[in-house]
Amino acid sequence: MNAQIEFRSDNAAGVAPEIMAAIADANTGSALAYGADEWTARLRDTVRAVFEHPDADVFPVISGTAANSLALAAMCPPWGAVMCHDTAHILQNECGATSMFGGGAMIRGVAGDHYRIEPAALEQSFEATRWGDPHHSQPSVLSLTVPTDFGTIYTPKQIVELTTIASRRGLTAHLDGARIANALSVLGCSPADLTWRAGIDAFSLGAMKNGVLSTDAIVCFDPAIAAELVYRTKRSGHVASKMRFQSVQLIAYLTDDLWLRLAHQSNATMARLAAGLCKLDVEQLNEPDVNMLFIRVDPAVADRMAEAGLLFYRIAADVVRLVTSFQTTDADIDTALTRIESTLTP
Ligand SMILES: Cc1ncc(COP(=O)(O)O)c(C=O)c1O
Repeated sequence: MNAQIEFRSDNAAGVAPEIMAAIADANTGSALAYGADEWTARLRDTVRAVFEHPDADVFPVISGTAANSLALAAMCPPWGAVMCHDTAHILQNECGATSMFGGGAMIRGVAGDHYRIEPAALEQSFEATRWGDPHHSQPSVLSLTVPTDFGTIYTPKQIVELTTIASRRGLTAHLDGARIANALSVLGCSPADLTWRAGIDAFSLGAMKNGVLSTDAIVCFDPAIAAELVYRTKRSGHVASKMRFQSVQLIAYLTDDLWLRLAHQSNATMARLAAGLCKLDVEQLNEPDVNMLFIRVDPAVADRMAEAGLLFYRIAADVVRLVTSFQTTDADIDTALTRIESTLTP
């Protein structure tokens, strides 16, 4: 029986040793609860330094869904609409969390190839809006997912184009950065260039898909959004008494480029896998810009891949999703490619 190789999700990966060590280091003595501790203060300073923004604020929360929905609720009035891509996680996979925390705020999908919102489609959706008509929810926030749920990315230039269109209509801009480190690692731009310098007012700092144990965070660049989040995080049960252990994870994550090094490993192993599958003539359905690839294979081939010990999700009978993580090694990829090659013919 072959050893299993994990391609289901980066959520299935473990915790980076540096994060475990940071938690152990913080486990000395007592500290004030609910974020009044020295680690949470240091986290704020770290975020301000890494994102080059003197007013940035940070709120550790327990999941990407919490980060997205609480940030968006703070940014969108109950009669407003959050505009996002048709395939966005906030629209398709969060069970209406943004609408719940947002007091009924709507989420409206906008089309676009490669899972990215097209500027023209965003303009069209604004033209179709009955602005000022109380019978119609009012577009209030643009939410971009970077990387997208299907592993493609927006460049800072593409983000600027969209946030400029949105801001002309008075919208603020949010970024779902569940895998933001993967995007930064590929783009090579600064964290500031991908966020506030591109017009983003608040974003979800994903960390748990990339080696962190138990925290993501909301980062906001607008003090008005931060002021609301103080209360919204508490009301929703996201102000942990032991916040120091969340904060210390995020400090370690953002220090000495750990987040980018971990993301580089998952991106690089995916690039190796995609190149190998290309040589095997396996059809790829997305540009695997980061750590996620969708391939089309005969259902019998997918069955044999599973029997060969590869762990993955089937999106359809003939579509397989493959995701690498910071724990995936080159050896995993080479073994996986050998096994896939042997499954292509019965
Ligand atoms: C793009 C994106 N955003 C948000 C989330 C939500 O994260 P969580 O599952 O921690 O709530 C996910 C989870 O897979 C995701 O892929």
